[in-house]
Amino acid sequence: MDQEDPQSDIFSLSDHLLAERLHFIKEIGFGNWGSVWLCRPKHSSSESDHHVAVKLVHRSKTSTTAARVRSLWNEMKIVRSFKHDPHPSIIPFHSFIITPSYALITMAYLPALIPVEVAEPKAKDWFNSLLSGVHFLHERGVVHNDIKPANILLSPQSVPVLVDFGFAEKYDLSSPKAFHSNLAYGTPEYLSPERARGLPHDTRKSDIWSLGVTFFEILVGRTPFEYEEGEQFSTKEDLEKYWTRTMRGKWVGTIKVKFSKSIEKLLKHMISPNADLRWTASEVLADVYWTMSIEKQGHSESSGFDAGLVLLMIYLPSCREIGERGSRCIAWSCA
Ligand SMILES: Nc1ncnc2c1ncn2[C@@H]1O[C@H](COP(=O)(O)OP(=O)(O)O)[C@@H](O)[C@H]1O
Ligand SMILES: [Mg+2]
Repeated sequence: MDQEDPQSDIFSLSDHLLAERLHFIKEIGFGNWGSVWLCRPKHSSSESDHHVAVKLVHRSKTSTTAARVRSLWNEMKIVRSFKHDPHPSIIPFHSFIITPSYALITMAYLPALIPVEVAEPKAKDWFNSLLSGVHFLHERGVVHNDIKPANILLSPQSVPVLVDFGFAEKYDLSSPKAFHSNLAYGTPEYLSPERARGLPHDTRKSDIWSLGVTFFEILVGRTPFEYEEGEQFSTKEDLEKYWTRTMRGKWVGTIKVKFSKSIEKLLKHMISPNADLRWTASEVLADVYWTMSIEKQGHSESSGFDAGLVLLMIYLPSCREIGERGSRCIAWSCA
C-alpha cells in the first residue's frame, strides 16, 4: 500500500506509482553506490519544464545495498534539516522516496559543475558564497567531509552550490565530542594530513583544508600538491608520497596563472598542515580580503592568465572534464 502524508516530504510508494510520478530523462552522475538522474515530474501542475535531480540507490537484500540505503537516509536527514533554514550554497532538498526496488532523494537540479582555471575576480564571489555555506554548516553542527569541485554545482544565476552529503556528519553541538573524529574517509587529494592519517582531529578544520584545496584548484586547474593536473595516486606508496608533500605544506609545480597576494595568504591559512594554525571558517570570513577590491591587492609572481580563454571556459563549459582522482567526473553544458 502506498503511504503518503500530504504534509510530509518522505514517501513510501509502489514502483508503479514512482514510474507514474517521475519521468527519468537521463543519468547524470554515477558511482558504485547508485546513480543521479535528471527527472521531470509527470504531473507537475505549474512549470511544465521543471526538472529535478534524483539520487537513487537500488534496494536488494545484500548488506552492501542496505548500507547504501542507510547512507542515503543519513544524507537525506542532513540536507532535509536545512529545508526551512536554507543557504544559497547548500543544495535544496525536495523529498525522500522509498519503493520496494529503490530509495531516492529528489532535489533541485543544477545544470553544471563549477569550472576550474577561473580568473580570481570571477571566482571571488563563488569563494565567499561557498565559505559562508561551510560556516553555516559548521555553526549547525554539520561537517561535509568531501568538499571538492566535483561536489560543487553552479546554479543558472552563477551561485556555487555544495552537493553530496553522503559523507557528512551532524554532531550534537552540546557534546564535548562534537567535531572530534579519527576516521580517514574522503577523497584522498582533498584530505587534510591529519585526517589522511586517521589521527584524532577536528572535522571542521579538515573541511577548511578541503575547501582551500578546492579554491586553489578552481583558480589553478590542479590541486596544490600535485605537479600537474591528473597526477595519478593509485598505489599506497604514491599516496604516502603525496601526503608527505601535504605535510610540508609547500605548494609544488609551476603556477601558470595570476592571483592576488591576499588570496595567496588566505589559501596558506586554509591549507596549513598544522591544524591548530589553520583558520576556522569564521576566521577566513573575517579576513579583510573579502572587503578589498582585487585591483588593490597586488599579484603573485606568475605567468598570467589568458583572459579570453578563461571567459570561454566559464561561459562554454561544454563537456568540460574536471579531474577527480579515483573517479573522473564529467560536467555537461547548460544547453
Ligand atoms: N542536484 C544535482 N543537480 C545536478 N547534478 C547533480 C546533482 N547532484 C549530483 N549531481 C551530479 O551527480 C554526481 C554524483 O552525485 P554525488 O551526490 O556527488 O554522488 P557521489 O556520492 O557518487 O559522488 C555529481 O558529481 C554531479 O555531477
Ligand atoms: Mg560526489
